[in-house]
Amino acid sequence: MEKSKVLVVGGTGYIGRKIVKASLEQGHETYVLQRPDIGLDTEKVQMLLSFKKQGAHLVEGSFSDHQSLVHAVKLVDVVISTMSGVHFRSHNLLMQLKLVQAIKDAGNVKRFLPSEFGMDPALMGHALQPGRVTFDEKMTIRKTIEDANIPFTYISANCFAAYFAGNLSQMGTLFPPRDRVVLYGDGNVKVVYMDEDDVATYTIKTIDDPRTLNKTIYLRPPENILTQRELIEKWEKLIGKRLEKSTISENDFLSSMKGLDFAQEVGMGHFYHIFYEGCLANFEVGDEEEASKLYPEVQYTRMDEYLKLYV
Ligand SMILES: NC(=O)c1ccc[n+]([C@@H]2O[C@H](COP(=O)([O-])OP(=O)(O)OC[C@H]3O[C@@H](n4cnc5c(N)ncnc54)[C@H](OP(=O)(O)O)[C@@H]3O)[C@@H](O)[C@H]2O)c1
Repeated sequence: MEKSKVLVVGGTGYIGRKIVKASLEQGHETYVLQRPDIGLDTEKVQMLLSFKKQGAHLVEGSFSDHQSLVHAVKLVDVVISTMSGVHFRSHNLLMQLKLVQAIKDAGNVKRFLPSEFGMDPALMGHALQPGRVTFDEKMTIRKTIEDANIPFTYISANCFAAYFAGNLSQMGTLFPPRDRVVLYGDGNVKVVYMDEDDVATYTIKTIDDPRTLNKTIYLRPPENILTQRELIEKWEKLIGKRLEKSTISENDFLSSMKGLDFAQEVGMGHFYHIFYEGCLANFEVGDEEEASKLYPEVQYTRMDEYLKLYV
């Protein structure tokens, strides 16, 4: 079977650049949206040029020019959006409404993967304010896709390792502590940690797979389902030292959120659902699919291996 042609929208972003790389590695003809709006951002320009050097095609298009998006979409079979959605940096998930309209008007796309790559928003109807905005916006995009009968795959990627594992899930830092660590509650809630390159590998694996059509795919490889305590133990083994542990209770965690700025409250709300409620692993995959079962050939990165980077 011929491999699908892929357009990545948001290709210079954090997860986007890894998706571009995985798409090229897996032999897909890969297009990356080159937005004139990036202006003089030399880092983005350099990255786009490096994609080009690796064999990607750059296609010009802007979210303020509908026809340019339609033109870009018409070049490919599959569109993957990695639009920004992290409040402390940039969040423009609803910009994707314009992309969905372009896909609808183009009429040729066999699969659309919107910018998800986190918790499954369909399971977060009860989420706390204001953090629920992320899930609500992702659900708005889903509804537009489904109303337009656009074939889709939703990737639920759980915790990106650089945000959640490298820091032993501590807030406000991306490096692991070497002396003291804070546990959320008893630290025994199951969490799923994912190396972002593996997120990209699994994502690209799904795009030509009939088993993933119109489904949510959970990235939940069994050895990466860990409690915070288990993650910390791996780090302790690597550095040959036990860390001093303190605990923050659920009530104290919730009250410490009050009065923070919006981005911090959003982030803490997400931490709450992950580390106290256990929203990543407290349900069965059911009629949807789990990536490591679908693609057992992928040698996913275990977190002890991942943490070696930080020693
Ligand atoms: N599971 C996790 O732990 C986790 C962690 C972080 C993020 N996520 C999710 O991953 C997804 C992508 O997030 P990210 O952190 O990779 O995003 P990001 O790096 O902040 O941004 C991705 C891209 O969004 C595009 N973009 C931003 N503002 C735009 C605008 N006004 N108009 C057009 N394009 C715009 C840019 O595309 P160009 O390349 O064209 O400039 C940018 O490179 C989100 O859905 C987020 O919720 C999950």
